[in-house]
Amino acid sequence: MSDHGHDVSKDSPSGVSPQDGGARRQFLIRLGIGAGGVAIGAQSVASLRSLVPNVSYDAPTTVKLGNPVDFPDGLKFLPDERLFVFRTGKTFHAISAVCTHLGCTVRAEALSQVQETQVGGQAMRLTHRFNCPCHGSRYNGDGTTISGPAPKALAWYHLSVATDDGQLVVDLAHEVEHDFRLTIA
Ligand code: FES
Repeated sequence: MSDHGHDVSKDSPSGVSPQDGGARRQFLIRLGIGAGGVAIGAQSVASLRSLVPNVSYDAPTTVKLGNPVDFPDGLKFLPDERLFVFRTGKTFHAISAVCTHLGCTVRAEALSQVQETQVGGQAMRLTHRFNCPCHGSRYNGDGTTISGPAPKALAWYHLSVATDDGQLVVDLAHEVEHDFRLTIA
């Protein structure tokens, strides 16, 4: 007897024809792939999230810069902190190298002649001035603007000495006035 025209669904225990079963299997396979995709996607998001540093905005902004005796008299540029540290004997101050226009790093240019001046009511020897390579802002050696689009002076940051190991410490969240000096005994 030929199967042509025979309704096999009646023979199937589930009452589903092979065609219907195939379609359902296909659907379930796709569903499985879809669910797997969702799981992989969720896992990817989780692992990507793990690559993002868990930064706390309350994180300390103080950075140890090294032993004060290792700083030369004059100026030292610290690229990681984008900072100029000035030393005159036992006295230190730090000026930001971040241009106040759009944030490029300014460059120090040695003056042909040292300028003796008063900065923040205190005597200071200016040995450099600063130029911004991006749009040409120019700053005096104390960070005040000479010309260019920079809207204000370069920031001065608070310096201290670490109590545990005596290193120089800058606080990049603590701007100070131009009369700030750290003198080490
Ligand atoms: S970023 Fe320095 S002048 Fe524009």
